[in-house]
Amino acid sequence: MQSLITCVLIIAFISPCLCHRWNVGTQNTIYNVIDFGAVGDGKTDDTQLQGVIVAPTKDAWVEGNLNTLIMISNVNGLTIDGSGGLIDGYGSAWWACKSCPRPSVLIINSCNSVSVTNLNMINSPKSHIHVNGCEGATFSHINISAPGDSPNTDGFDISTSKNIMIEDSTIATGDDCIAISGGSSYINVTGIACGPGHGISIGSLGKKFDTVQEVYVRNCSFIRTTNGARIKTFPNQAVEVSDVTYRGIHGTSLDGRAITLDCGESGCYGIVLDQINIVSCLTGKSASCFCNNAHGTATATNPNCTCLLP
Ligand SMILES: *[C@@H]1O[C@H](CO)[C@@H](O)[C@H](O)[C@H]1NC(C)=O
Ligand SMILES: *[C@@H]1O[C@H](CO)[C@@H](O)[C@H](O)[C@H]1NC(C)=O
Ligand SMILES: *[C@@H]1O[C@H](CO)[C@@H](O)[C@H](O)[C@H]1NC(C)=O
Ligand SMILES: *[C@@H]1O[C@H](CO)[C@@H](O)[C@H](O)[C@H]1NC(C)=O
Repeated sequence: MQSLITCVLIIAFISPCLCHRWNVGTQNTIYNVIDFGAVGDGKTDDTQLQGVIVAPTKDAWVEGNLNTLIMISNVNGLTIDGSGGLIDGYGSAWWACKSCPRPSVLIINSCNSVSVTNLNMINSPKSHIHVNGCEGATFSHINISAPGDSPNTDGFDISTSKNIMIEDSTIATGDDCIAISGGSSYINVTGIACGPGHGISIGSLGKKFDTVQEVYVRNCSFIRTTNGARIKTFPNQAVEVSDVTYRGIHGTSLDGRAITLDCGESGCYGIVLDQINIVSCLTGKSASCFCNNAHGTATATNPNCTCLLP
């Protein structure tokens, strides 16, 4: 519990001196929150600083951890209630160079039983929240916002994690609202308003040996997104996709390509389409369904996907 409180406080207390101190690149400078008046007994509310945490400017970020602004590692039972506060990743200067290493705003690494709620986050240089190697985490009422053309600004990246819940949040980004990658299972996503962005994605899978299983995406909206619910695999790498159900999806498609089931040589099996109605925005043109080696069934589905193989 003590480490829990301390961790939250580090975030709170670092912020006023962030721009000034961080740039010196003194990675080993430790600001102990106890020295700043924190009690850390697990009961006292040590957070005094309400408001906005702003990342250092790109130029100030000459050394130090280029991976992330805030890293929380090996903490169990952590609760963060942002109380509606804001973290500004100050990403605009970073976006100009897409190939340069760019930091995420928050990495939660090897933490179990985490709860994060009531937090606003804007303009990350790269992904906003990266959850890696965690078991048991709930994120709710998170509002993430970055311009639709900002590169790689995923809302959430989930990797090698289990029992993760993301609910009742709004995500507007230039990349995936939520990306779930290898080694992840039991991921529930509900009540997300996504857009702009690239939708909610699994993958890309198959660069190395990867598995993702038991992902449930429910009651989400996709507005002005390039995709909705998507599974991405590397081409020519024989990734097996099976037992995927798309049910109760309604909406419009800008270019009419409503459903794409492009499965490569190994094929996908057990694809279930049910109660889907997607119409084309192009007047007089009906929406289409494309299949390649996709096996499964379609019921009450428009476009009807008669290209599905048994
Ligand atoms: C989310 O944050 C954006 C940018 O700060 C703001 O415009 C929007 O109103 C917020 N949405 C919600 C649901 O709080
Ligand atoms: C996630 O969804 C599955 C399928 O509905 C359900 O069995 C499971 O209990 C859910 N997990 C959480 C943490 O809500
Ligand atoms: C769906 O999500 C919205 C928030 O985006 C929520 O207000 C609504 O209650 C949810 N509906 C169900 C059936 O869970
Ligand atoms: C499927 O949709 C196409 C295009 O709208 C239509 O021509 C075809 O008759 C439909 N097939 C079935 C089995 O409903």
